[in-house]
Amino acid sequence: MAESIHIPENAITREDRYKALLPQIGSLVSGEQDLIANLANIAASLKETFGFFWVGFYLVKGDQLVLGPFQGPVACTRIPKGKGVCGTAWMEARTILVDDVDLFPGHIACSSLSKSEIVIPGFRDQQVTMVLDVDSDKLADFDHVDEKYLSEIMKIVEAL
Ligand code: SME
Repeated sequence: MAESIHIPENAITREDRYKALLPQIGSLVSGEQDLIANLANIAASLKETFGFFWVGFYLVKGDQLVLGPFQGPVACTRIPKGKGVCGTAWMEARTILVDDVDLFPGHIACSSLSKSEIVIPGFRDQQVTMVLDVDSDKLADFDHVDEKYLSEIMKIVEAL
């Protein structure tokens, strides 16, 4: 397992930083079987690389999402299916990108500082088993670049 994340100084754009991070996430989780340990390190590596306000996983348990490994301020522990951005991404089994959380009906505000958000579902046997949630304290902070690379990270997670 890699012991630290190294993002080169010339990786300026967010895309450059994702490109540098992705293979390191691969080696970070290689050789470790424990899902929670791997999710914890992935959340930490995203926080370290991008300084996101909040980044973490919610795991499907019965009819709710339950808070999993994350980095950032304390967050709500349970989200019902179909509620908030996370519960909607689960119900609709698709990525949801929200430029302004105040305009998303039913958004669950764990922190009033969170302004925009992206949620990517992870699948096993075509069922959503978890979501990756990233929050920013800036409006419209996520775009198709985040969607592309965070989805690739979820593919690594799905293969664990
Ligand atoms: N805002 C999310 C809840 C989770 S926190 O942001 C960490 C939602 O609406 O589902």
